[in-house]
Amino acid sequence: MGFPLHLPNLLFYGPPGTGKTSTILAAARELFGPELYRKRILELNASDERGIQVVREKVKNFAQLTVAGSRSDGKPAPPFKIVILDEADSMTNAAQAALRRTMERESKTTRFCLICNYISRIIEPLTSRCSKFRFKPLTDDIQLKRLLAICAKENIQCSDEILALLINVSEGDLRKAITYLQCATRLTAGKGITEQVIIEIAGVVPSEIIDSLLAACHSSSFEKLETVVKNMINEGYAATQLINQLHDVIIDKEDLNDQQKSAITLKLAEVDKCLIDGADEYLQMISLSAVIMQQFTQTT
Ligand SMILES: Nc1ncnc2c1ncn2[C@@H]1O[C@H](COP(=O)(O)OP(=O)(O)OP(=O)(O)O)[C@@H](O)[C@H]1O
Ligand SMILES: [Mg+2]
Repeated sequence: MGFPLHLPNLLFYGPPGTGKTSTILAAARELFGPELYRKRILELNASDERGIQVVREKVKNFAQLTVAGSRSDGKPAPPFKIVILDEADSMTNAAQAALRRTMERESKTTRFCLICNYISRIIEPLTSRCSKFRFKPLTDDIQLKRLLAICAKENIQCSDEILALLINVSEGDLRKAITYLQCATRLTAGKGITEQVIIEIAGVVPSEIIDSLLAACHSSSFEKLETVVKNMINEGYAATQLINQLHDVIIDKEDLNDQQKSAITLKLAEVDKCLIDGADEYLQMISLSAVIMQQFTQTT
């Protein structure tokens, strides 16, 4: 596949583990070849100092260098350098602003590639100088293909159900899926990975626990509900994880009408926000369960 020798400034954004960093590194390698790569690419990520001073000196100096040299394998090398600013959403606004003029002035010889998770944290003047590419959570097929390739190369025995579960719990983040696969293989020492292992590694709340919580909500006994929630917190399950799973269960529940579902999901959103702001897990779970209980009892 031939890459174009002309390139706009790029802005990649999207959730973690969807291949943003991999894409630009692979494209740069393809464009410049292994030798020229080191001279033509400046890669800075959040682990490097990227304050306004560095942008003014390091980035500016690199951008001002002229491009010379050709590939030893005879393929044409593009007439520009690339500055990769990974995790650009963690750069301060001042440092981002310092890039504005540099990006324009050096456009003859330098392309910028900004990469971030949250595009709203990139200042408007920078986004307007770049072609934007949104990376979506990866589809199940793509992830499955990649995981199968890894399993084949690493000689891991993994059934289709296990791979489907891995993909399910990693929510479109292939890096997460690969990491879980690696952990599971280490943990079982290659003796066949079970669903139990994956669920444990991923911190998924087992469906029995969710069922028991919903059963307690149905029982309309507040004491019972209190014990179930207390047990759950003591077991160490993360409330945010529980909320995500509860959401899926509630949406699919057939014995609730739309009005009840919307009342519960509204509460789920509120609780989620409170937990992010650092609220107490136990109190939030009790408050959520009380709303679910109230909605359940309305049907009967
Ligand atoms: N489309 C894809 N095809 C094959 N492998 C992929 C793909 N996307 C991601 N990967 C795999 O996932 C890993 C993580 O990808 P990468 O580091 O590029 O993610 P990222 O988008 O930069 O994430 P972050 O926002 O967390 O930096 C890669 O090492 C690669 O193995
Ligand atoms: Mg990355």
